[in-house]
Amino acid sequence: MVGVKNLLSGAWLLAYGAFSRSASTASGSHSAASPTSSGKYTQFTIPASAEAGAQLIANIDDPEAVDAQSVCPGYKASNVKESARGVTATLTLAGKPCNVYGTDVDSLDFSIEYLANDRLSVQIVPTYLDSSNYSWFMLDEHVVPRSISDRQASKQDSDLEIAWSNEPSFYFKVTRKATGDAIFDTTDSVLVFENQFVEFVTSLPKDYNLYGIGEHIQQLRLLNNLTLTLYASDISDPIDDNVYGSHPFYLDTRYYEVNDKGHHTLVASDKAAQSKDYVSFSHGVFSRNAHGQEVVMNPEGLKWRSLGGSIDLTFYSGPSQAGVTKNYQLSTIGLPALQQYFTFGFHQCRWGYNNWTELEEVVSNFEKFEIPLETIWSDIDYMHGYRDFDNDQHRYPYSDGEKFLDKLHSSGRHYIPIIDAAIYIPNPKNASDTYDTYTRGHQEDVFLKNPDGSEYIGAVWPGYTVFPDWHNPKTGDFWANEIVIWHKKVAIDGIWIDMNEVSSFCTGSCGSGNLRMNPTHPAFALPGEPGNVIYDYPEGFELSNKTEAASASAASFSQAATATTGGSTSSSTSYLRTTPTPGVRNINYPPYVINHDQDGHDLSSHAVSPNATHSDGVQEYDVHNLFGHQILNATYHALLKVDEKKRPFVIGRSTFAGSGKWAGHWGGDNASRWAYMFFSIPQALSFSLFGIPMFGVDACGFNGNTDEELCNRWMQLSAFFPFYRNHNTLSAISQEPYIWESVTAATKSAMKIRYAILPYFYTLFHEAHTTGSTVMRALAWEFPTDPSLAAVDTQFLLGPSIMVVPVLAPHATSVRGVFPGLKHGEVWYDWYTQTAVDAKPGVNTTIPAPLGHIPVFVRGGSVVPMQEPALTTKEARGTPWSLLVALGGSGTATGQLYLDDGESNAPDDTLDVTFSVKESSLSARAKGSWEELNPLATVTVLGVSTRPDAVKLNGIPVPASGVQYNATSRVLSVGGLQKLTRKGAFSADWALKW
Ligand code: NOJ
Repeated sequence: MVGVKNLLSGAWLLAYGAFSRSASTASGSHSAASPTSSGKYTQFTIPASAEAGAQLIANIDDPEAVDAQSVCPGYKASNVKESARGVTATLTLAGKPCNVYGTDVDSLDFSIEYLANDRLSVQIVPTYLDSSNYSWFMLDEHVVPRSISDRQASKQDSDLEIAWSNEPSFYFKVTRKATGDAIFDTTDSVLVFENQFVEFVTSLPKDYNLYGIGEHIQQLRLLNNLTLTLYASDISDPIDDNVYGSHPFYLDTRYYEVNDKGHHTLVASDKAAQSKDYVSFSHGVFSRNAHGQEVVMNPEGLKWRSLGGSIDLTFYSGPSQAGVTKNYQLSTIGLPALQQYFTFGFHQCRWGYNNWTELEEVVSNFEKFEIPLETIWSDIDYMHGYRDFDNDQHRYPYSDGEKFLDKLHSSGRHYIPIIDAAIYIPNPKNASDTYDTYTRGHQEDVFLKNPDGSEYIGAVWPGYTVFPDWHNPKTGDFWANEIVIWHKKVAIDGIWIDMNEVSSFCTGSCGSGNLRMNPTHPAFALPGEPGNVIYDYPEGFELSNKTEAASASAASFSQAATATTGGSTSSSTSYLRTTPTPGVRNINYPPYVINHDQDGHDLSSHAVSPNATHSDGVQEYDVHNLFGHQILNATYHALLKVDEKKRPFVIGRSTFAGSGKWAGHWGGDNASRWAYMFFSIPQALSFSLFGIPMFGVDACGFNGNTDEELCNRWMQLSAFFPFYRNHNTLSAISQEPYIWESVTAATKSAMKIRYAILPYFYTLFHEAHTTGSTVMRALAWEFPTDPSLAAVDTQFLLGPSIMVVPVLAPHATSVRGVFPGLKHGEVWYDWYTQTAVDAKPGVNTTIPAPLGHIPVFVRGGSVVPMQEPALTTKEARGTPWSLLVALGGSGTATGQLYLDDGESNAPDDTLDVTFSVKESSLSARAKGSWEELNPLATVTVLGVSTRPDAVKLNGIPVPASGVQYNATSRVLSVGGLQKLTRKGAFSADWALKW
């Protein structure tokens, strides 16, 4: 029996049975396994050996690995044709093929296209595209579109220019005209283009500021000495390694000193002087490639390696982050889905809500403690044998569900269940083991295949499973049909897509020939089962809860000791090195081994294998990173089939560039640790750059037990993330916010703010949906002239106007934060005291933050539209309006509000309100046909220096009883406006003068 620090979703797991496996057994099916010898489970369990990957050594760790740069010949350009729109040329191998990690492609087509004046494309593809033998692979433009081209663009008008040369071998260099700075430069490197290995290298300035290249759990500004792997992996949030999604995009921000003559000198952000002013230029780079990739970051630049595909780079010139992000979405990956209003309410979830009654209890506890709850979620517990679209009729019967959901819906609340990517395949010999979803899919022939044409059978929660093949034109309809049928039985309000990397708990088509074994339990102990009892607590728990921590640590020690007795370990010292196989692709063991984080770096470990085959002949090897993207697309469209008028709400785990069009994302299986609470901020900010603003993590943490203090802080922090959900693993201690009195109070206090600013959230989302702007923002993006903010990721902005400075460490009573822009007259107001913050520019200020208090600040110059907090978003939408006006240094402010019915896909009636303040007058101008019937109740103005003589709305004096002015705090509060706005706060334009 072997204890392994398992990489499976959801837990530290125990795998049974020692295993050994050689590379040669990796593809296809392996022989039927016998029941586990451990005797822990009565039913047949797929042995852990079925999951074991070959033990490969990752190239970046291999001292014997050949550096392609030192052996490959590079290319020479010929047949060059230049036009105002760009350049085309042929690249021919400049020497003997190196065939270092595949077969060199001897002739390539190189093209530069000025797509727009702020967008440039560089494409390098094999000249002879012979798709019949899949020697190389071109990404389908229907699945991942290329950036659009603006016919007016030209070299002359472009922000960027590109030069190339053949000496010593072909290279190219992209320069920003405004600064004369090379933003991408392959000089002194060789281009390597093989059927299973593509490498290009760019130099970067010293101490560069790069962001993005996801999905990873890491700090916001990328380190310059690590390798970022992109290969969708079902794994519990390891730091710096590849996780669920792939986003081959980065933002590069550079700061310059500009002299009198307009000359730009690059400045390292960490060396910039506080006293000076800088200008910054940001650009973005998207590498349109979906293969397994590695971006090797080093202090001089980066090496981008891919296991196939082509080079298809788009450069976005910005020059602001906002410009880059908008351009990336608008021209290339698409704008994020507009979300329903309710989705911004609070979501409660856990793995282990056992039946409808338990869900009902949770809902009523929220009611009892008067904590807002919008949506209750179901994990896989509701399923019959973990099968999609099939409820367990003992625990989650349809009839009781209908009653529960009727009641839930009539209270204004919602229900969202999980749906896994894999589909159970029954034992054909067992007549009582039928599963209609499988039968229909099998009849339609929509599942992934083995190379021999039989169904590819992996294993996930239900036992043996098949996997929808998104390349088959019928699969979308199959998926939609299943969702439509099931929706008639369970009135769901959205879908949570899980395991879509696509995960499989065995290597290869392990069910082929074994279906009679009927495994009903995964090969590992679920959290809480013997050997996998959860004893983990957050950092610092041992100081605050000494006795409990000591006994948990003793029990954990003994569990670990039992798990390792008598077994060999899974770590092997003899690695398998793969070798090139010229002329033939080795997709199961590609010659270059990326630093993939599953067992032995094996691409087939814990996922559907690279040799699984799609209906169009495409092998999973070439499209693995797109499975998650395509199921999100299919799910979004399936929900439209359920109700074509409603915006689909989908939250997915594995995403690709462009998934935001259909889905939001949660940060996966984080742990109940302070470190993960911190990482949630850079995670969210990175997803802002990736065009997936609907992001949140499991508040209070998923794996391990949380504790009162961490949950208190986390419930408060997550209240300022777009997607706000508390989710917990099976068997960990309960962590709903009502479990601890202090967490209840802290949650309510943060939710009071969140629910009040729901209109602000919604407006930001509408803007993101229409323009590609971001919702959660890094300080550096809003204050681009301040290099000292380049790496700040311990505080963030929500839109332009609200800044959150959370406590991220245990036992703290204060937090240090910066107040950006002070040097240029920016004013920040404390949300709670409503007074201007007294801080010094560029100095970390200590902010009091006792447990239960999350520091929140409003930026001067903002008008924030608000309604009253309530227990549901529906209730909140029925309350009177208030406006929070935070005056900037010059006494001005602006703000926006967008409204519609909050759910229609293409709402007929919308309203856009523009607020503007100058010379002590706030005006509201509304455009659109949405009738907002709630009146305006109050206007609170922060930073009013003198007591006003009178306050008038459209010239009519507001009764003095409604006007209050505090000369110390400088807050003017104007109440009692309901009577004057009886027909609705924005039914007519108005001006409030003080
Ligand atoms: C893995 C998911 O990431 C997690 O959120 C979920 O609870 C488990 N699968 C069980 O479905």
